[in-house]
Amino acid sequence: MVTVRAPATSANLGSGFDVFGLALAGPADVVHVEPADETTITVTGVGSQYIPTDPADNTAGVVASALDAPAHITIDKGVRPSSGLGSSAASAAATAVALDALYDLGHDSETLVRAAAEGEAVVSGEAHADNVAPAILGGFTIVTGEGITTIDSSLALVACLPETVVSTRDARRVVPVDASMDALVETVGAAATLTAGMARDDPVLVGRGMRDSVVTPERAELIAGYDDVRDAALEAGATGVTISGAGPAMLAVCYPTDRRAVASAMLDAFDAVGVESRAYQTRVGAGATVYD
Ligand code: HSE
Repeated sequence: MVTVRAPATSANLGSGFDVFGLALAGPADVVHVEPADETTITVTGVGSQYIPTDPADNTAGVVASALDAPAHITIDKGVRPSSGLGSSAASAAATAVALDALYDLGHDSETLVRAAAEGEAVVSGEAHADNVAPAILGGFTIVTGEGITTIDSSLALVACLPETVVSTRDARRVVPVDASMDALVETVGAAATLTAGMARDDPVLVGRGMRDSVVTPERAELIAGYDDVRDAALEAGATGVTISGAGPAMLAVCYPTDRRAVASAMLDAFDAVGVESRAYQTRVGAGATVYD
């Protein structure tokens, strides 16, 4: 039996739509795999009642099929589904790494990312690697058609997750089909600034680079209290705030000394609009880890 922990992720970060991803130190999913002739899936933990256990409909089952590695798979969910925190990606990434270790497949990490992205497609409808790449590799990742670039970082983060649910499919329906040249210029500037900030571990640059006027405003409409929560986080010391992935989780970057105040401000602001939420005081973290 092999056990692997894979973390929650944020992908996108305001800018970097479908390109940028970030591994969070927590929360995480834990996946156990045992050799079998046919794949079976058991799911426990947060939101497990909403996750299909038929291998054909489950991210982990699709990964097992993509790797031609049937197994008894047990998923202990720490990342709530439909949160914007890469829930299905965490399960898919952990499963890919666990099966690789279980059967000594020897795949390189890009192959595992591709297999995990196939699992992700079951949930989102498209095979995105922007969540599974950081879930496997850790740190900050840039995924393009040409490959994956990673930058290590230890930036302090707060992810605040309201009790509401936004599916990735619904959040993709509100993405504009085109954008102006002005928006393109702004987006390139923000993405470049964010990347430089990650390389320098500079929360001010990263926060500035989270700006996005194309996708984020449309998706913010799906999150009750978005503007109030963002303003409260900034007031409490966050250097940048945006939607985590497709939402509804919101992600703030800050100095470590401001993390507690930022988390508390975000919780209070959601509470003030009648929405319960929970905050993860975290940082950029490692990718999938095999337990002994
Ligand atoms: N980047 C995707 C989105 C998340 O924002 O829709 C799923 O990969």
